Amino acid sequence: MGLDPSNRTELWVDIAAAISAERIKERISDLGGVGSVEGGGVTRSALTEAEDSARRMVAGWLEPLGYACGVDSACNLVGRPPEASKIVIGSHLDSVPNGGRFDGALGVVGAVEVAEALVKTGVSALPWIAAWMGEEGGLFDRTLLGSAAALGLLSEDVWARDTGQGASLRTTADRWRSRWPGRTVSLPLDHLEAYLELHIEQGPALDAVAQPVAVVSQIVGISHINVTVIGRTDHAGTTPMDDRHDALAAAAEMALDVERLGRQRSGTAVATVGKFAVGPGAANVVPGHAQFTLDVRSPVDDTRHELVDQIRSSFFAIAASRDVVVEWSPDGETPAVEMDARVRRVLCDCARSIGIDPMELASGAVHDAQNWAIAGYATGMMFVRSTGGSHNPAEYAEPADAARGVVVVALAVCELTGNP
Ligand code: GLV
Ligand code: MN
Ligand code: MN
Repeated sequence: MGLDPSNRTELWVDIAAAISAERIKERISDLGGVGSVEGGGVTRSALTEAEDSARRMVAGWLEPLGYACGVDSACNLVGRPPEASKIVIGSHLDSVPNGGRFDGALGVVGAVEVAEALVKTGVSALPWIAAWMGEEGGLFDRTLLGSAAALGLLSEDVWARDTGQGASLRTTADRWRSRWPGRTVSLPLDHLEAYLELHIEQGPALDAVAQPVAVVSQIVGISHINVTVIGRTDHAGTTPMDDRHDALAAAAEMALDVERLGRQRSGTAVATVGKFAVGPGAANVVPGHAQFTLDVRSPVDDTRHELVDQIRSSFFAIAASRDVVVEWSPDGETPAVEMDARVRRVLCDCARSIGIDPMELASGAVHDAQNWAIAGYATGMMFVRSTGGSHNPAEYAEPADAARGVVVVALAVCELTGNP
């Protein structure tokens, strides 16, 4: 069906009218109160009280719409509609430390809003809804955990790893699951065909061209690497400057090299040291130990691999020149993915049907949608214009823009399920 304002059906007009920017705003505010921290940000880490409270809040919105809500084996919240289509809509409920109120939350609130509108307008085949656990990498600095678990993409050794909460991922997820007695709901993977996700853009592109929404074309690939530098712990007063094996100084040089090598590939790849620890950590001790994370991304997997190799070589050269040991531990990677061509076209057509000529944007952030694409489902994403950057308390999306994104997703659900 070619969609333009002149051939929108009555149902589609009603669906668009049933989507409320005000309700989206209120719910974003309600979720933002869960795990809120001074200064307006949120800390809602994976498998914590705050993340679980957020799940309960979302279940409380879905249940009056007839959804049966529970958690799956990884403690993802899953909402099963009374009559299910083959589509899932989702996003995540965890946040980075002192993060914003919209990253992930908007996609979950948007998914609920799609359900609200479809139920109110009498559409019978409704989407499944998922709110993913642990998208942000709070557990072992690995992103997209909950969706990977739901799709069978997590290896046993990851399930067995310590979450930093004194137990394995398996045991920790089970503990949180036990708070939902008799409420296990899992996605019927064999019966599903498509996955849709709404998300704030988290970058400046839409704001720069004064557009409210965009259709995502592709999502970057990511490599996670843990790096340990081992030098020699020594006395800060008595050890001559030219007789030191300072792990911090070596690690600092490595971090600067990550920036230098990343800059050389500006526009095609990015590389970040985001977490850094020094030991033993006393003012009068030459550091013998440093540990940091490395996050490398590119829309082209070969470019990412080349940059990773280049950084690795540079680290070993720095370690040799400073006579320290470097341990390089790759910790998972997710390839770059294209969004499904048909879903993209449907999303673009649906945006045009409400008077938006959408731009298509590549995503530099990773998203749970990536796992769905990797698992072979027809996957598409909508971006909503956002300001204030992201992964910080200033990130912001206008409710009216968010509502437009939700309308596009709701209409796309109708189009993909054959509703007129
Ligand atoms: C998630 O927000 C990521 O891109 O790391
Ligand atoms: Mn996100
Ligand atoms: Mn994020």
